Amino acid sequence: MALTALAVLDGTVLPADEATIGVTDLGLLRGDGVFEVISVYEGKLFAMEDHLRRMANSAQNLRLEIDLGAVTADVDALLAEAGPVTGAIRYFVTRGGRRVGLIEAVPEEREPLILASIEYVPPRVLDGVKSLSYGGNMLATRLAVEKGATEALLVTPHGRVLEGPTSSIFVSLDGETLVTPPLSDRVLDSITRRRLLALLPFAREEVVTREELRGAREAFFASTTREVQPVARIDDDDLPAVPGPLTQQAADAFAAHIRDELGA
Ligand SMILES: Cc1ncc(COP(=O)(O)O)c(C=O)c1O
Repeated sequence: MALTALAVLDGTVLPADEATIGVTDLGLLRGDGVFEVISVYEGKLFAMEDHLRRMANSAQNLRLEIDLGAVTADVDALLAEAGPVTGAIRYFVTRGGRRVGLIEAVPEEREPLILASIEYVPPRVLDGVKSLSYGGNMLATRLAVEKGATEALLVTPHGRVLEGPTSSIFVSLDGETLVTPPLSDRVLDSITRRRLLALLPFAREEVVTREELRGAREAFFASTTREVQPVARIDDDDLPAVPGPLTQQAADAFAAHIRDELGA
């Protein structure tokens, strides 16, 4: 069976095109539910505990009941059937109480990003919730593509840089250190971002303005599926180094960290 064709629905593993949820489920009608995307390398889950913790937190903040034991059992059942795959598991729980996991392919190589800044204000009520309400994030990417970019960079109306629609951002303004916007700016508490901050002594949280970005030396997006992906241009400004030396160090350190953690 192809990598993308397998699903688990409420504990039952089945072909993805046979997995269905009801049209009255508020997960579908209102984007009311929570999700995670977890990396899988040759059948081994990376950072599963972190994803479970974040999902439990999201569910609690959204006043959604979830059974974490069932989530773990679903993912294990999916992987048992799929074998030693490399890709990602998208897992979500809806307000209607359905638990769904899907195996997704992840591109092996990605081109450096061309970013267009898109104005965005994170909804405060969804602080600390990785919810299914991602219509705004998806639209931001489409608007960026309409501007000739490959991805959006979310920036507040006051010019504070936040993140990508599905990624964190790291930037070097001085060529020696990396900065990433603080969680107090209501960016997602990204697992990749957290790991990179712990791994790289020259990385820290700091507010970055759109204006400051004009002089950036290098930048990258970080996420579960992208890991470390260099940025080549932001709006009209080409970055001088793609990937820059700090981006390369971050990519190497993160790859080594994954290998260590998986015991490879
Ligand atoms: C808004 C947003 N920021 C950042 C990330 C990166 O988070 P992680 O590193 O946990 O994949 C994601 C991932 O989906 C996201 O949706």
